[in-house]
Amino acid sequence: MLETPRGTRAGESIPPGDFGKRIIDLARRLARFSETPDALTCTYFSPAHKAVAAELRNQMQAAGMTAAVDAVGNVVGHYPSAAATAKTFLIGSHDDTVANAGAFDGRLGILTGLVAIEFLHRAGRRLPFHLDLIAFAEEEGVRFSAPYLGSAVVAGRFDDSLLTRTDAAGVTLGQLLEDHNIDLAAIRGLGRAADTLCGYLEVHIEQGPVLLERNLPVGIVSAIAGSARFRVAVRGTAGHAGTVPMRLRHDAAAAAAEMILAVERRCATGGALVGTVGQVAVPHGLINVIAGRCEFSLDIRAGDDATRDAAIADISAAISQIAGRRGVTAEIAEIGRHAAVPCAATMQSALARSIARAGVEPFHLPSGAGHDAVMFAGLTEIGMLFVRCGNGGISHSPLETVTEADADLAARIVLDLLANLA
Ligand code: GLV
Ligand code: MN
Ligand code: MN
Repeated sequence: MLETPRGTRAGESIPPGDFGKRIIDLARRLARFSETPDALTCTYFSPAHKAVAAELRNQMQAAGMTAAVDAVGNVVGHYPSAAATAKTFLIGSHDDTVANAGAFDGRLGILTGLVAIEFLHRAGRRLPFHLDLIAFAEEEGVRFSAPYLGSAVVAGRFDDSLLTRTDAAGVTLGQLLEDHNIDLAAIRGLGRAADTLCGYLEVHIEQGPVLLERNLPVGIVSAIAGSARFRVAVRGTAGHAGTVPMRLRHDAAAAAAEMILAVERRCATGGALVGTVGQVAVPHGLINVIAGRCEFSLDIRAGDDATRDAAIADISAAISQIAGRRGVTAEIAEIGRHAAVPCAATMQSALARSIARAGVEPFHLPSGAGHDAVMFAGLTEIGMLFVRCGNGGISHSPLETVTEADADLAARIVLDLLANLA
């Protein structure tokens, strides 16, 4: 069984279940801040998002950390080591959400770190490294199609070209930062140097069914899939829905539909390759007008970059071929590409030992979803602990669930890992 973390004072051990209940309660509390009344939507720098950041800052302070919201909107909690010159171990995940989200994607990892540090604080235990708990402000890329914005800044990988990205209202990221009096130099100054860090850990809901099907509460992430994102703009010829004969049409929506099916076909070839068209729009479309334009998003991921890139090449060729045959044009613009990233072998084995000490079989699995951890690969050793996702493994949905018992175990594993890294 998992031992009580070393340094715990007598009478301060927490009965099983308390970490889990606190994590789930806090996640439910954060989920009350939303841009939409009947669903959880919390996107970058919205009033709901700022309220979540303030709440997390307060919770981190109450848990014994010094905490503040940084220039880009990340909430950074600091739990110092007794040794002032020590390196820093990062625990992080994101506090933004997709639209109509579940309460645990991203937040589970922040809150697991929070209850673990709260426990260390109450036990009066300092570690030989500083612990920074970071709630990254923007991982989903919902508002500016710029995923990993918060973690990129902390990893010193902020890309200035993102400043011209616009949100749905036409506001650029640069303008938003200016409106908040946020200085770009301040953002660049948030980047951590590799020699100040001694590791990065992210706890995250699995967002898939693998652990559920194997009846395992947690798993160790072996690698994070590579991804690429595009916007495809199809231009055809608008016309009267009642008068243009079918054989003379250059319908942009019908062409897009065929292209979307080609994506599905190419990515259904097995393995970890997946392709998703999550957004389709006919700008200024009307019921009685043939679509002159149709735009769709394209997200392609695979366990390795070569598989992903081969699929991209085939899909691009299929889109051109369909466009040519239908007399429309198709422009494919790439908006982001991230290489597949392995988790550090040392962190995987340390997690495996902590999981085994908890009496659970250590099980390694790849992540098809992207995570803030990606940004820290190459900068420090990254590790990820997945927690079982209920309801068949559904996520990016209000049906997403985590049990108190699984969240509780995750917090105990984090404490055991920290004690043993120490
Ligand atoms: C983030 O949730 C992603 O993988 O798209
Ligand atoms: Mn997500
Ligand atoms: Mn996430």
